[in-house]
Parts: sequence; C-alpha cells; structure tokens
Amino acid sequence: MRAAAGRLLVVDLDLSQPKLIGSARGALAAHRQAGTPALFLLRDMSPRSQMQANALGAQAILPAEAQAPILLDKVGAMLGLLREDTPNAVLQKRFVRASAALAGLLDAAGAGGPLPVETIDDSVEAINRAADGGDLDVWLDLVWQHDDATYQHCLLVSGLVAAFARKLGFAEGDRRLMTTAAVLHDVGKARIPLGILRKEGPLTVEERGVMRQHPQIGHDMLVAQGGFSPAVLAAVLSHHELLDGSGYPQGLGADRISDPVRIMTICDIYAALIERRSYKPPMAPADAFATLVEMGGKLDVDLVRAFGDVVLGASVKRLDRLATPPGAGGAEEAA
Ligand SMILES: [Fe+2]
Ligand SMILES: [Fe+2]
Repeated sequence: MRAAAGRLLVVDLDLSQPKLIGSARGALAAHRQAGTPALFLLRDMSPRSQMQANALGAQAILPAEAQAPILLDKVGAMLGLLREDTPNAVLQKRFVRASAALAGLLDAAGAGGPLPVETIDDSVEAINRAADGGDLDVWLDLVWQHDDATYQHCLLVSGLVAAFARKLGFAEGDRRLMTTAAVLHDVGKARIPLGILRKEGPLTVEERGVMRQHPQIGHDMLVAQGGFSPAVLAAVLSHHELLDGSGYPQGLGADRISDPVRIMTICDIYAALIERRSYKPPMAPADAFATLVEMGGKLDVDLVRAFGDVVLGASVKRLDRLATPPGAGGAEEAA
C-alpha cells in the first residue's frame, strides 16, 4: 500500500554484521536528520540488535518474520493512518485488516494450500463493519491507493457487495455469506497463468477460454477444501452468468440465478469498469452505471436501479476526479 501521507523508512538489515552497521549509519544519516520515521526489521531480536537499531534511528522494531497483518498495522500506525481520533481511522484500520487478510488468502490460493478460513472470516467482518460505517467513498479512496490490481479488484467488489447488501436490508447472516462470496469470487484466478492474467492488451480467443475457467476453478477449490456454504459456492461459480443465458460457465438463465449472485455480478462488472487497468483507463462512475443500465435484460433491472443509490451518491464527485471519459472495453472479461 502506498503511503497516503508522509514517508516511512523500512530497514531490513542483518545487524550482526559490523560492516553493514557502518555503511547503514552513513546511508541513513540524511533520513534521520530529515526526521523520517524508520521501522527496523530484525533477523534476531536480541537486546544487542535492538540497541543497535535504536542507535541507527529506529522508531519501531519488529522481527523480520512478522506476519503481514502485524507489519501493516505497524506501518499504518507509523504513517498516521490509524489514529483512533478521526472518524475514518476505524474504517482505515478495517481496510488494512481486510487487505492483509486478502494477502494471506491469495498467497494460499496461489501456492495450492488450504484457504485460511479464519483469515477470510476476519476480512469479511472488517468489510461488513466498514459498510455499517456507511462511507463507501472512504473505502474507495483506500482501494485506489492499493498498488496491486488483483487486491484492488477484490477489495472493491467486496466493499461494493457489502454496501449493497446492507442497503438492501439483508440480515447479518446473509450479508456475511455475500461478502464472503465477494472476497472469494475470483480466487480461481490464482491458478490462471500470470502471462494471461496480467497480459497488457486484449486476450486471444484461446487465452479468453483459459481465463473463463476461473469461476469453475475457484468453485472446485472451495468444494475440494469443504466447509463453504452452498450460497458462497454458487456465487463463486456463477458470478459471470447473465440473466439472458449469455454468460459463462454454464449459460444459466434467469430462473437459475439467485438474487445474491445477481448482486455480485452487478458489483463485479461495475468494479471492473471503474478500475484502471494497464490496457484501459477507469470509467467515470456515472458512465459505468449507464453501462450497467444499457446491459438491459442481462442484469436484474430492479437491482441495477437500487445499485444506483449505492454508487451514485457523493461518490460521483470524488471518483470523477480520478476517472477519465469512457471508452473502456473488456470490463466483463476483466471482472
Ligand atoms: Fe471479479
Ligand atoms: Fe470473475
């Protein structure tokens, strides 16, 4: 995550090497004089190493093997992102938590290990409580600060689904399932070759065929692991289905697509439209919403209308600042 304000030096050095300490002292001098806060990651937490780090200007010290959530919490606190005295601070903290949880999820998915269920639950809780705060704009601002497109998309879709489900008055249990599905919806992309996933420019027909396997792959990963609700499995498998039967992977018709899946599809397509990708500029929210409306019977018209209330509030002003005129294509593929 890029710093929203201020600078921070993260120093990862083996302080048992006297030679390194000498050159580090020189290299860090200017930063120390400038008052840049420094976080030192230590290979050993011996009193000697900690003293050494303090002498080099450490404001905070963590073991080098600290888990991502702890590291992010510390970085956020040092950057002043997590002060508890501002209205948005709690939401920012939740964002950092969700973001860290997502890192664990995507790492596990990519490595082929079991998905960390507790971590997923933790991020879902953070996202739903953030939605209770009601300020989708702040969530979106934080999403835009994320450098990684995959995380950005996941956090964006999850934040949108959470806000939409809340707006529609779903019960807490249903909201939990829907946000869980949103967090997991593209987990199958972890098994799509990076050459296709990160390709700059349009996909070939074959590549598109591979990309379109991600809902089935994600669904199968969850089934193989076990313990996921049927509603979550359905949303992961069917988030690219369209009501007129023109979607994939099964070409389901409206009678076989539930409301939670319809909601997810709307949020997913909208997210892909307003995201910046290497091959397309972000679309302005009003234009992205108009695109959903133009999709007509492919999406649930009543839900699209209700979605307008969620995304076309104060956000229009904020997002217009970041967006350029429409002209973006391939959003559905990117979703
Ligand atoms: Fe997606
Ligand atoms: Fe997808």
